Amino acid sequence: MQTAIYPGTFDPITNGHYEMIGRASRLFGRVVVAIAGRPEKSPNLSLDTRLDLVREVTAKFDNVEVIGFSGLLTELMKNQQAHIILRGLRAVSDFEYELQLANMNRAQMPELETVFLTSEVENSYISSTLVREIAKLGGDVSKHVHPVVAQALSSHYNT
Ligand code: COA
Repeated sequence: MQTAIYPGTFDPITNGHYEMIGRASRLFGRVVVAIAGRPEKSPNLSLDTRLDLVREVTAKFDNVEVIGFSGLLTELMKNQQAHIILRGLRAVSDFEYELQLANMNRAQMPELETVFLTSEVENSYISSTLVREIAKLGGDVSKHVHPVVAQALSSHYNT
């Protein structure tokens, strides 16, 4: 059974991430969504909140697990006995960063492969940063995130 690891910050999970997870769940036997703590990125939502939200949003997928991690992604891959990293490409602008990340990860663990899925057009302009900004200013993010995420953002920002 092939395990794919889908790593990211998920601050918060958006419909774009959800789309990737759903498609990955059909392609791979097991999908592990790995949420990086990333204190250096100062996430708005705590790791526990991000874990709860991703678990709730992806609950319908039987072969999807959600875990938190700190440290190197390649160490996590070894611990999970996985050699596939899944990443999404929304636009050409994502490519340069993703290529660098993929090559760096492969330099550390030559047996790993990064698999890219391209976003649906309607999700190609969504980013967690823009979703957070709109939510913080009291705007409507319901087109871009699951209702539980919209609710969590509204409580977090008191809007
Ligand atoms: N749909 C919608 N949005 C998407 C998306 C999609 N399909 N794919 C990416 N994004 C957005 C995210 O919302 C996020 O937006 P933001 O920057 O506005 O918050 C952005 O693209 C990138 O986020 P994400 O996919 O979560 O990746 P990341 O760059 O935050 O995470 C890690 C990178 C966690 C995978 C990487 O830093 C890592 O592996 N860290 C562990 C430490 C390590 O091993 N470092 C060495 C790496 S070589």
